[in-house]
Amino acid sequence: MKTGIHHLYIPGPTNVPESVRRAMNVTMQDHRAPDFGALTLGLIADLKRILKTTTGTVMLYPGSGTAAWEAAITNTLSPGDKVLMARHGQFSTLWAEMAVRLGLDVQLVDVAWGAGVPVGEFARILGADRMGQIKAVFVTHNETATGVTSDVRAVRRAMDACFHDALLFVDGVSSVASLEFRMDDWGVDLAVTGSQKGLMCPAGLGILGVSPKGLMAAKTATGRRAYFEFADMIAHNADGYFPYTPPVPLLHGLRASLDRLLVEGMETVIARHTRLATGVRLAVAAWGMELCAEHRSLYSDTVTAIHVPAGVDARDVIRAGYARYNVAFGSGLAQLAGQVFRIGHLGDMNEGMCLTALSLAELSLAEAGAKIDFGSGVAAAQAHYAVAQAGAPELQTPDLRIAAE
Ligand SMILES: Cc1ncc(COP(=O)(O)O)c(C=O)c1O
Repeated sequence: MKTGIHHLYIPGPTNVPESVRRAMNVTMQDHRAPDFGALTLGLIADLKRILKTTTGTVMLYPGSGTAAWEAAITNTLSPGDKVLMARHGQFSTLWAEMAVRLGLDVQLVDVAWGAGVPVGEFARILGADRMGQIKAVFVTHNETATGVTSDVRAVRRAMDACFHDALLFVDGVSSVASLEFRMDDWGVDLAVTGSQKGLMCPAGLGILGVSPKGLMAAKTATGRRAYFEFADMIAHNADGYFPYTPPVPLLHGLRASLDRLLVEGMETVIARHTRLATGVRLAVAAWGMELCAEHRSLYSDTVTAIHVPAGVDARDVIRAGYARYNVAFGSGLAQLAGQVFRIGHLGDMNEGMCLTALSLAELSLAEAGAKIDFGSGVAAAQAHYAVAQAGAPELQTPDLRIAAE
């Protein structure tokens, strides 16, 4: 019997605010009713504001982020097309595996799990591709497995510097609505996200922003698609309808979550994520532990992946937290299993929630055998939260690899 509230600090699904939960508690509706379309049209208009696009087309697929990955690929690329991707964590790895399964010729750049997208290497490869054989460049904006945010704008610059006209695909599943994301400014052609992270809803919607160039590519791409066909979605979406049955309660939830984000203001939302994440990182520094992210320029403001000390199994930290303290932390995925645990600090979060996460992490770490001064991380984060205010410049997080040496 677990009492009290469950503390959810995985990097998605994130905590759903009460107003969003209540908004989803609706009687079932006719999704072909004459007045239904207005709901979808409003969502699409506001998602464009979140993605920062005026020229893009937004589509909502019943599914998850993975569905939006697949919709993006199958509609705009053809089997045999060469694409450039990097593997630097579990999600970039899965996207590359999907691309292979869908018949693309994937040129992979493998870098350490903890590194960012290798912009220099991408620039070299694109510069050497004089015949323009590479049809798309893929970027995982925020690698949720490692807590690494990559520089999408720098990839766009590298593409422009050599006049490369490949499509730019960006996975924003754990960045959109939490970190700065500028679809038009960065020249993103396919922007992918899902409903269950920054958008604070349950999973169930794969969300896609498509540039005019992406729509053009869809006219000739021969990737096999049926459920995900852009043309069907666009035709129905024109009046706010869907080619099939949409998850109506979830659409109402998304309406409420977009209202929250737009009232708070995206600049404030982004600053809040930075402020909260900085406190978490300062706590990790106080524990004397290292982050998975290789450099401070890569630190993610939505999720922190923490290396446990030698001799400690990160799975024990997660198990102890779950069993004794009713808390869920993210696990180390694939090759990071046992080595890292992750604290998700995105979505409907505040200082109190982060401090709870840190305090329960201290207890869980201790139970798993780590040497920890109780309160050290909590105090470091408190010291930051006490002075950091919305709009104030952030403290520099120390480089946690160097700090730990
Ligand atoms: C960066 C990233 N990409 C893709 C996915 C897959 O999204 P979904 O689980 O919604 O299919 C995730 C899920 O956590 C993710 O974090």
